[in-house]
Amino acid sequence: LPSPQDADPSEVYRPEAGAEHGKLQTDYRNYTAGPLLDRVYNTYLLMHTHQTVDFVRKKGAEYGACAQRRMSIMEALDLLDNVVDESDPDVDFPNSYHAYQTAEGIRRAHPDKDWFQLVGLLHDMGKVLALAGEPQWAVVGDTFPVGCRVQESVVFSDSTFHDNPDTKNPLYNTEYGIYQPHCGLANVLMSWGHDEYMYQVMKFNNFALPQEAFYMIRFHSFYPWHTGGDYMHLCSSEDLRMLAWVKDREWEQGGGWGRGQAPWLRVSVWGLALARRHTWNCCTHRKPWRASPVTDMGQH
Ligand SMILES: [Fe+2]
Ligand SMILES: [Fe+2]
Repeated sequence: LPSPQDADPSEVYRPEAGAEHGKLQTDYRNYTAGPLLDRVYNTYLLMHTHQTVDFVRKKGAEYGACAQRRMSIMEALDLLDNVVDESDPDVDFPNSYHAYQTAEGIRRAHPDKDWFQLVGLLHDMGKVLALAGEPQWAVVGDTFPVGCRVQESVVFSDSTFHDNPDTKNPLYNTEYGIYQPHCGLANVLMSWGHDEYMYQVMKFNNFALPQEAFYMIRFHSFYPWHTGGDYMHLCSSEDLRMLAWVKDREWEQGGGWGRGQAPWLRVSVWGLALARRHTWNCCTHRKPWRASPVTDMGQH
């Protein structure tokens, strides 16, 4: 693929143009074969070795106060031009493309829900952590609860956890570990990455989005739960109610729109307008985030 600087993504990624054409939804997330598999496996090996209860608590304390940097949504989106997710076996292009294209996929599936479209634009924005010096294994990839036994549907779970110190800690390696039955995912420590970070940013800045949006962003990489069907013993009834939204994979994979098939130029123009209409002063800024009226499109 051409580098992001010299590629014209509307040529490279338009539906009829590239290697992605004709790829079925079931062809995505193949963890047993494919050209990017070594890179993917190594990212998970590091993640499953180093993501521990202590590590997650440390990162939450480091980033949860949102005290490090201040930027607008548009600045963060531009930064994603420089991020390629090394855990993703399908996506080998910058995450900014993926953001616009995911939002476009949602617009097609849910034209009446602009908050949902915005979720598409925002959902991977936490990957800016990779540009703050965080290793990929602490930014990307499927997430899983720490502090309890790893369940089977965690990708590569049988070959990547042997050097994780938590697996030798009797407090952390029972079915419930440090948790109570049906305590609710809000009370569960998830492995640290872009999902949890972006959730913290949204909460800190009082994003004026429905609870579903917070939920979708916080748990969109928790495949062992929303797709694998594991970890139900930790879920509250509210988690189960929200599961249908998190599972609505139209928004990331449906028809491949989030995976490189949307016409780039048209989508980016629309996506910029959407972001400008709905966001201003966000990320690590204390000012409350509020959806603004259409007349504010010129500012963000
Ligand atoms: Fe994504
Ligand atoms: Fe993601």
